[in-house]
Amino acid sequence: MENNTILVTGASGKTGRAITAALLKKGHTVRALIHSSQQAQGFDNNVTAICGDLLTRLDLAKAMQGCTAVYHICPNMHLEEVRIGELVIQVAKSCSVGHFVYHSVLHPNIKVMPHHWKKLQVEALLFKSGLNFTILQPAAYMQNLLQYRSAVHEKGLYSVPYNGRTRIGMVDLRDVAEVAARIITDERHFGSTYELATDEIFTQLELTDQFSHHCRREITFKETPTKQWELAMVKSNMAAYAIATLASMFRYYEKYGFSGNGRVLEMLLGHKPNTMDAFMDEFFNQ
Ligand SMILES: NC(=O)c1ccc[n+]([C@@H]2O[C@H](COP(=O)([O-])OP(=O)(O)OC[C@H]3O[C@@H](n4cnc5c(N)ncnc54)[C@H](OP(=O)(O)O)[C@@H]3O)[C@@H](O)[C@H]2O)c1
Repeated sequence: MENNTILVTGASGKTGRAITAALLKKGHTVRALIHSSQQAQGFDNNVTAICGDLLTRLDLAKAMQGCTAVYHICPNMHLEEVRIGELVIQVAKSCSVGHFVYHSVLHPNIKVMPHHWKKLQVEALLFKSGLNFTILQPAAYMQNLLQYRSAVHEKGLYSVPYNGRTRIGMVDLRDVAEVAARIITDERHFGSTYELATDEIFTQLELTDQFSHHCRREITFKETPTKQWELAMVKSNMAAYAIATLASMFRYYEKYGFSGNGRVLEMLLGHKPNTMDAFMDEFFNQ
């Protein structure tokens, strides 16, 4: 596909910004569908930011007009995730978009994690759509750890609402974005579903050791009691659906862990994925 214009939906979030930056770096023409004009801040001048609502067909149609590909990212923990997916797929069909890449999640087939389960339903809609599609299923991002940076540095504390034995494998969002930029104009990927994970798995206690190593001081792990976490989220105005979904995800993580395998990511990148050690060195080194 030549002369590409790519629309990134949900572009104002952390995933959208990373994907947009990677697409631009690769030389693509990028449109970013953002929720409000204030969110245009931080995008490169070469990105065309378009304000719109993912639940409004007309906004989607205006943004998608003339696009060769769509990279669809649903806002995190959105109650209407399936409806949004359905609308974006329908509009992509009506705009004759050549490639639809869907930002799903590792293991979407887990019903007790509603934001995973909803992604499985969107994947099924894509299978039936007749569109050329690629599905990316990333593991949890290393970048999620950045929200703990000030507590780690200032209080010497790593605190999450699940226990220290919980085993999670994480991927660098920049590796996911690099894959997105590589595959979006390459029709050899049509019809594929790729798990994007790494081989590394850490318990929360092991992660705490890594924090201690990179911060060059003793960091303590503390499990935040669920009730306390829920109260803090209510106070921060998080939607009830998002709180319940996250709580359910934490219980799942605790019981079964959450991780994948790095082979596919390495193959798509053409190099080794970033490691937790390198990520910590970049962002937690003091
Ligand atoms: N975090 C991870 O480790 C991980 C791993 C794998 C997959 N994922 C998936 O990645 C996706 C994106 O997550 P994220 O954390 O990057 O998202 P995010 O930061 O929550 O960003 C979502 C963005 O979408 C905007 N938005 C909300 N409702 C909208 C609407 N109706 N129309 C247009 N824009 C709207 C929000 O703006 P407002 O603030 O104005 O509402 C926000 O800027 C999710 O589906 C998540 O499940 C995440």
